[in-house]
Amino acid sequence: MEQVKWKNVILPRHAYIEHKLTIMRDKNTTKKIFKELLEEISLLLTYEATRDFPLAEKEVETPMEIATVRVIKGRKPAVVPILRAGLGMVEGVLKVIPQAKVGHIGIFRDPHTHEPVEYYTKFPTCLDEREIFVLDPMLATGGSASFAVQRIKERKGVKIKFISIISCPEGIERLSGDHPDIKIFTAAIDRQLNENAYILPGLGDAGDRLFGTL
Ligand code: PRP
Ligand code: URA
Repeated sequence: MEQVKWKNVILPRHAYIEHKLTIMRDKNTTKKIFKELLEEISLLLTYEATRDFPLAEKEVETPMEIATVRVIKGRKPAVVPILRAGLGMVEGVLKVIPQAKVGHIGIFRDPHTHEPVEYYTKFPTCLDEREIFVLDPMLATGGSASFAVQRIKERKGVKIKFISIISCPEGIERLSGDHPDIKIFTAAIDRQLNENAYILPGLGDAGDRLFGTL
């Protein structure tokens, strides 16, 4: 785990996360491979983000004897992808937490102001009792992430973690400033935003690369 400047940011250092992300960044990587790698890195980040999940003891009868072991306790977690690109992370996350409920929040960035515009929201019930994972591969200005977290808090969600593939200082500052209680799990912290609020070096437009709408 790399120690970064922001205490709420977790950047797992893992050879395969770096390797897979390098292939995702390559502009010649096909849509099929991009989709597969997005799912795989999401799985690896979720492994890290669920490390401290609450556990309860139970007894299980193995073929050898009765053992006291541990299982995940509490309500089913909730996963909330930010549409569109966050959708590409869901299957990877569900491989680690298959019982999770899936909500959706549709947000796009206004191309001129870069401010988030909401077009769809549907969350699971009882958010106050669930661990919640907000998913978006790109944390750029942080506007979309901050808006999504705000909506979840309005529905009484409290135990919220954000998982992104690539973040940048501007997005981390914005999300951490608006929501200092949120932990951010990310595979990379890139250099900066360009004048169109795209991450450099980044991987381009994640939604377009995932869905082939370039
Ligand atoms: C992209 C990306 C994030 C957002 C990040 O979505 O998937 O949701 O931009 O930018 P921000 O941190 O500056 O808010 P986009 O608006 O391109 O919509 P899409 O996923 O539907 O393509
Ligand atoms: N959204 C993306 O998909 N890519 C960026 O670099 C910034 C926002």
